[in-house]
Amino acid sequence: MQLTVVDHPIARARLSRMRDERTDNAAFRAALRELTQILVYEASRDLAVAEEPITTPVTDTTGYRLAAPPLIVPVLRAGLGMADTAHGMLPESQMGFVGLARNEVTFQPEAYMASLPESLVGRQVFVLDPMLATGGSLVHCCSLLTDRGCSDITVLCALAAPEGLERLEASGLPLRVFTASVDERLNENAYIVPGLGDAGDRQFGAV
Ligand code: URA
Repeated sequence: MQLTVVDHPIARARLSRMRDERTDNAAFRAALRELTQILVYEASRDLAVAEEPITTPVTDTTGYRLAAPPLIVPVLRAGLGMADTAHGMLPESQMGFVGLARNEVTFQPEAYMASLPESLVGRQVFVLDPMLATGGSLVHCCSLLTDRGCSDITVLCALAAPEGLERLEASGLPLRVFTASVDERLNENAYIVPGLGDAGDRQFGAV
């Protein structure tokens, strides 16, 4: 697993707004969108480009397009707040969706939705989930991708806990992680500390 902590003044400022308990749902969503722009920008730095001839109003020259736009996969519900922004920056990309819920008997994450291409062989995937806490659901989500042959997964999250990063590392999955911060730890309720609370509730309200 390759970890990149995106340390940028704008990322720090937006993340601080998200952390602040006084930030309302609308302002939280706006800050997450702006932070997502920075994460996508950094994570897409190495995307392959293909040359194509173009003509400017002045002359012929060489233009570029993304050779293989990544599949974007938000993890429901909290990843939805990152999806539009990521798609706006990568309009050539397709989008899949993964919905995960905890099985109340086994306490393990289970997919109630996996809207994904049948085969992901040779495709790069950007997984969007603002919070990497225990890592359990992200490992499950990424396993759904590798089960379909994916060998190039990039996880974009606002915040990560050391415990979650260790779990992803131990999974041996082919991962890169981009986050704006690695926080201190998880508390006894598996919330990230200092964190920002429940990223789904902070965006959409506690329903
Ligand atoms: N999910 C959240 O939304 N917040 C946390 O702190 C941990 C998991």
